[in-house]
Amino acid sequence: MGIKTGVTFWNLIFFMMVTCVRGFIYTCGGTLKGRNGTIESPGFPYGYQNGANCTWVIVAEEGNRIQIVFQSFAVEEDYDFLSLYDGHPHPANFRTRLTGFQIPPPVTSTGSVFSLRLTSDFAVSAHGFKIYYEELQSSSCGNPGVPPKGILYGTRFNVGDKIRYSCVTGYVLDGHPQLTCVTNAGNAAVWDFPVPICRAEDTCGDTLRGSSGIITSPNFPSEYYNSADCTWTILADPGDTISIIFTDFQTEEKYDYLEVEGSEPPTIWLSGMNVPSPIVSNKNWLRLHFVTDSNHRYKGFSAHYQGKLLALSLHMHGFHG
Ligand SMILES: *[C@@H]1O[C@H](CO)[C@@H](O)[C@H](O)[C@H]1NC(C)=O
Ligand SMILES: *[C@@H]1O[C@H](CO)[C@@H](O)[C@H](O)[C@H]1NC(C)=O
Repeated sequence: MGIKTGVTFWNLIFFMMVTCVRGFIYTCGGTLKGRNGTIESPGFPYGYQNGANCTWVIVAEEGNRIQIVFQSFAVEEDYDFLSLYDGHPHPANFRTRLTGFQIPPPVTSTGSVFSLRLTSDFAVSAHGFKIYYEELQSSSCGNPGVPPKGILYGTRFNVGDKIRYSCVTGYVLDGHPQLTCVTNAGNAAVWDFPVPICRAEDTCGDTLRGSSGIITSPNFPSEYYNSADCTWTILADPGDTISIIFTDFQTEEKYDYLEVEGSEPPTIWLSGMNVPSPIVSNKNWLRLHFVTDSNHRYKGFSAHYQGKLLALSLHMHGFHG
């Protein structure tokens, strides 16, 4: 069985599982209702089928949102994918595509429907995934999860509640150590800052606050080094946005890249020789993750970031990252 649903209190559990083999395509999945439950990829933890196309649709009560928390995740990197949809599984609702062997952070829907689709190619499989899902009432921010090497203090996640993070010895905390569950302009319960990350003490990166500044790759304008893995977190006050403008950009196409999180789309991958367009955050933070492989070095990048003010003028001139 690919699905297990949990105990519900006042909702009936409906679930439907369709499993059939059509040619080489293995389909499975179903519709899940109920306060909480778990979803497992078929065959978990012994590996999912090749040629799988499985779609799960989670439906909450009207007005509630859905949070999914990954308990296990191993999907053949770059060939098999778990796609997430903020709503029914239509292209317009596509949110992100997950692959690889790292447990992703929790994800919360904006409405009362959330969908997941596993697609695998015709060779090689992996353990698959196990996900816990839960309906969130409008006054709950949900458990934001614990980053690798992090420690979470606090067990209540409703409006007004505060939680704190720290990192185990040998790691430094990047981001805001305290999160407060607040009500945003759209009347939804949200955490005021992103979950911090724990960065190994000897790696590059920083937490940047303040209205403006410059971020450059290591050694800029000389060549960056091989096997770099740097993370910068830029924070603004809740309600503000951050924009970033690149002035230089040169990396080994496809192998050395800068990943920008916190704008629309939620993850932007930058690589190669073109200076990227400006990027504007959609919340009060942006996270830059610079990764290089073990050969070929270039100049890297330099970027200027600025709080709200510049973001406003960019919008006025019609530029969008
Ligand atoms: C659903 O929530 C209830 C109450 O918090 C808990 O006892 C139960 O174990 C949960 N179900 C699953 C599948 O975790
Ligand atoms: C998976 O199935 C869905 C719905 O049945 C279909 O729309 C989609 O194109 C399929 N995806 C792949 C990769 O076959």
